Amino acid sequence: MTGFEFVESEFRVPEGMVQFCRDLPKSDPGLEQTNRGGYHSSFDAFKRDMPGVDVLLKAIRDTLTRHGEALSEQLKICGWVNVHPLGGHNVRHAHNGVRCVALAYLTTGSPIILHTESGSLKIAPEPGKLLLLRDTLEHEVLPNDNDDRINIACNIYPAESRDPFRKFCVQLPDSMHDAQVAESGKRKKKNRR
Ligand SMILES: [Fe+2]
Repeated sequence: MTGFEFVESEFRVPEGMVQFCRDLPKSDPGLEQTNRGGYHSSFDAFKRDMPGVDVLLKAIRDTLTRHGEALSEQLKICGWVNVHPLGGHNVRHAHNGVRCVALAYLTTGSPIILHTESGSLKIAPEPGKLLLLRDTLEHEVLPNDNDDRINIACNIYPAESRDPFRKFCVQLPDSMHDAQVAESGKRKKKNRR
């Protein structure tokens, strides 16, 4: 659960990430979840040497930090790849019970509909767009009307979560930890002078 319903942010799409997603069905047959007519990978995409995953995870952490969420909380995250060809879509659903949801877009494609407390909102994907959603925010993806629509969806959990998905998770970089490492680096340099 987060204080916000949703926030929009961005990240730099790392080189090789799109190709990784396109190639993933060759090694991972995928799952049927809320996807209809599209590919949904297993939940362990971040444990498969995804190029540039550190860039994406840092952007997610930085966005949480900017919005005053989880400032000193240790978090973990699992991610999966969605590739919708023409007509592929996701039925309406929410990710109840996780700490937060992240959606990272690698291409354009059909809009996602967010069913917010104040009404439905349509957001068009574009490469580098990042959306964070409260776990209870219901959403759906309209049938894709063009080329492959590719995104990475993530569930974020507290580090101590016993959720069955924990086995698919990696650690989300910790902003406090980053700050401490930078500070300790500065101290070491100073001591060497
Ligand atoms: Fe979802």
